[in-house]
Amino acid sequence: MIEIKNNVYYCGLNDKDRKIFDELIPLEHGTTYNSYLVKGSEKTALIDTMYPPMSDEFLKNLGDVKIDYIIANHGEQDHSGTLPKLIEKYPDAVIVTNRFCKNNIMEMLLIPPARIKEIQNGEELSLGDKTLKFYIAPGVHWPDTMFTYLVEDKMLFTCDFLGAHYTFDDNIYADNSEALKLSAKRYYAEIMMPFRKMCQKYTQLVKEINPEMVLPSHGPIYKNPKFILDLYEDWTSDEPKNLVVMPYVSMYGSVKEMIDYLAEKLNAAGIQTLKHDIVSDDLGDLAMALVDAKTIVLGSSMVLASPHPAAANAAYLANVLNPKAQYATIIGSYGWGGDLIDKLAGMLSNLKVEIIEPVLVKGRAKADTYQKLDEMAKTIIEKHN
Ligand code: FEO
Repeated sequence: MIEIKNNVYYCGLNDKDRKIFDELIPLEHGTTYNSYLVKGSEKTALIDTMYPPMSDEFLKNLGDVKIDYIIANHGEQDHSGTLPKLIEKYPDAVIVTNRFCKNNIMEMLLIPPARIKEIQNGEELSLGDKTLKFYIAPGVHWPDTMFTYLVEDKMLFTCDFLGAHYTFDDNIYADNSEALKLSAKRYYAEIMMPFRKMCQKYTQLVKEINPEMVLPSHGPIYKNPKFILDLYEDWTSDEPKNLVVMPYVSMYGSVKEMIDYLAEKLNAAGIQTLKHDIVSDDLGDLAMALVDAKTIVLGSSMVLASPHPAAANAAYLANVLNPKAQYATIIGSYGWGGDLIDKLAGMLSNLKVEIIEPVLVKGRAKADTYQKLDEMAKTIIEKHN
């Protein structure tokens, strides 16, 4: 355990070898599962627990410390998964959480209700000379999430909110580097962006609480919370950037030719473009690009008279991540027929975007196709201006 300050300890673990999260998103730097021990003059509380595969190491590191309360800020098992072993090891410890999380840990981890103390928003729990105050913050990113504030030390434990999949060695504090910024953005894109409005709200709440330290459940601790709060204000703002994101899959090069042609036109007009080969590029990079995009141009070949499955996957992902993009369109190429445009457009139904006239061609682009792409470029340029 590492003492952070005044009898508050970091007791989380690095998982540097983890390559993918939720069996979906590649991890560039692995991740950490952060847990914190707060020793008051009368009682000791553990804030969040551990991902189950690492529970033995976690319990060993806790040693014979006495724990009176286990604060469950969130029911997802990377933070709550060691609760069953903890209540066995500490038969007198009480789990403290909100109503939604209580239900989750009862259903998912079979925690007996008698072991749980349910708290309300704003309620406080005394540890003697230290006080924990609970802010129920549903939606970042489950309905059961809450923050725990250590009042006297001005330390705010935000669980997943403001976190990053970023590992460290001895230095548990944010280095405010470009690498951390990118990691935090990737994490925001993949986990928090679908709840952008809630993230806006809770960014303001954290600013109002004005903690001296923000301690999330993944990644480093922020001694300077302004670093991450400024980033969240930018990422969650309603205004996208002058950026067109162009995920594409191209079986025989026709779609790529058209994507390249459109990108050149847009670049010449001062619009930034980001082309993303859905098959070979990192899915997390696409998610990150969607944080800022004003327009999405999805390019696809056809397989068996339908959009290429990789394009369908990208459309599905964009649809669930629900970025703030304002415009979308489709560029497609087919061999012998089928329905590409309607199927792909139908998969973007969650997005509040205006659909710009798509371009679809049999085989390679021809003179009239390039005219249509010129029209598409002109429309996008007008919209971005
Ligand atoms: Fe890191 Fe929602 O769990």
